[in-house]
Amino acid sequence: MRNPKSIELLNRAIAEEELALHQYMYFHFILSDRGYDLLANIFKRIAIEEMKHIEAFAERVLFLGGEVELGKLPKEVEKIDDPKEMLKWAMASETEAIETYSKWAIDVVTHDRDLGTQELFKKVVMDEERHFEIFETEFLNLQKFGDQYLAQQAMERSRRIGNIGTSQT
Ligand SMILES: [Fe+2]
Ligand SMILES: [Fe+2]
Repeated sequence: MRNPKSIELLNRAIAEEELALHQYMYFHFILSDRGYDLLANIFKRIAIEEMKHIEAFAERVLFLGGEVELGKLPKEVEKIDDPKEMLKWAMASETEAIETYSKWAIDVVTHDRDLGTQELFKKVVMDEERHFEIFETEFLNLQKFGDQYLAQQAMERSRRIGNIGTSQT
């Protein structure tokens, strides 16, 4: 087994990504159930990107000869049902990921001189920065436009369903 520190940190990263994936899918289900399709889909799309981070980290663990640890969520999925609180959770999570991965990008070189793993952490940090920006924009829009912002999304769905009905008759 090569680079034990890298393998340890990659597996911790996998656990953090798994939590984000589960929590974002939970938000997706709740929002979709209420008809807020745009925000629901943003959470789903980003959840899929977190899943791809899990894949990239897992591939690296295996490349280094380690074992992939799956299914160890660092904490439970929170049953948050207020859209603003969901976005706050997401922004805090992305901020933490950016800080943690930036630190680990340095640690893997200090401990194991592992430039490959450093490169991977750096790449994922850029993704998390983009995620933060997307969530922040949604949060600010919700603050600016209030409930109207979500009502508009619910109306869009009704319009779409209504139009389908009309075209069939
Ligand atoms: Fe991620
Ligand atoms: Fe993210």
